[in-house]
Amino acid sequence: MSGADDEPLRVEKLNVYYGQFRAVHDIDLTVAAGEIVSVIGANGAGKTSFLKAIMQQADRAEGSIHAFGLNLRTMSTPQIVAAGVALVPEGRRLFPSLTVAENLRIGWEIGRRGSITLDRIYSWFPVLAERRDQPARRLSGGQQQMVALGRALLANPRLLLCDEISLGLAPVVVGQLYDILPKIRAEGISMIVIEQDVVRSLAVADRFYCFLEGAVSLVGRPQDANRDVIMRHYFGG
Ligand SMILES: Nc1ncnc2c1ncn2[C@@H]1O[C@H](COP(=O)(O)OP(=O)(O)O)[C@@H](O)[C@H]1O
Ligand SMILES: [Mg+2]
Repeated sequence: MSGADDEPLRVEKLNVYYGQFRAVHDIDLTVAAGEIVSVIGANGAGKTSFLKAIMQQADRAEGSIHAFGLNLRTMSTPQIVAAGVALVPEGRRLFPSLTVAENLRIGWEIGRRGSITLDRIYSWFPVLAERRDQPARRLSGGQQQMVALGRALLANPRLLLCDEISLGLAPVVVGQLYDILPKIRAEGISMIVIEQDVVRSLAVADRFYCFLEGAVSLVGRPQDANRDVIMRHYFGG
């Protein structure tokens, strides 16, 4: 199966290796048009390796990855971004000495043209408009995360991959970031949201996958999921 042209993501039998070590085992995962899919799992479960493989940034991967009918395994990272798949990477990866505006513009330059413009990002995150001429390193962690999210959105993705956007941030800031997700969805953008915070992650998701030691341990809909069952598949044992 290669996936239909309107299917944001179809991953089949994905394995990711670091040397001899297999960090991701036979993962099957799909994202339907308009869906927010959350991936939960403990530290080391393979979440970041999974997203890196989608973006063709993994050291070595096997299996099949299609987005919008395109075979991502045959594409470079810039081609994938240009085709409408953008990543908010773990740890933000901003250019610390470039300004907020310069960091944001990178997303616009590498992405597709579309309805998300710099002005719209500033309207969603007014604090970034105020600080647009400041170097990214002068911003708080939460503001830096807003820049990382804004940069990915400026690529006008059809599928947005978010890797632990709330990690290490104060709850009020996490709330500000998560408040943007309905606006992103309203643009017709499908999403994968990776979080260690299970409660927050399930609150926004249409469906979830739990990863345990590199494999999918549980798939479901948040409203059908029992907390004890999720915790057992999150921690194992
Ligand atoms: N660059 C790397 N080299 C070797 N092992 C790695 C590397 N990156 C991740 N791993 C290992 O792969 C496994 C999955 O890591 P990762 O994908 O970062 O998990 P998560 O994002 O769920 O915390 C872990 O055991 C981790 O130690
Ligand atoms: Mg990670």
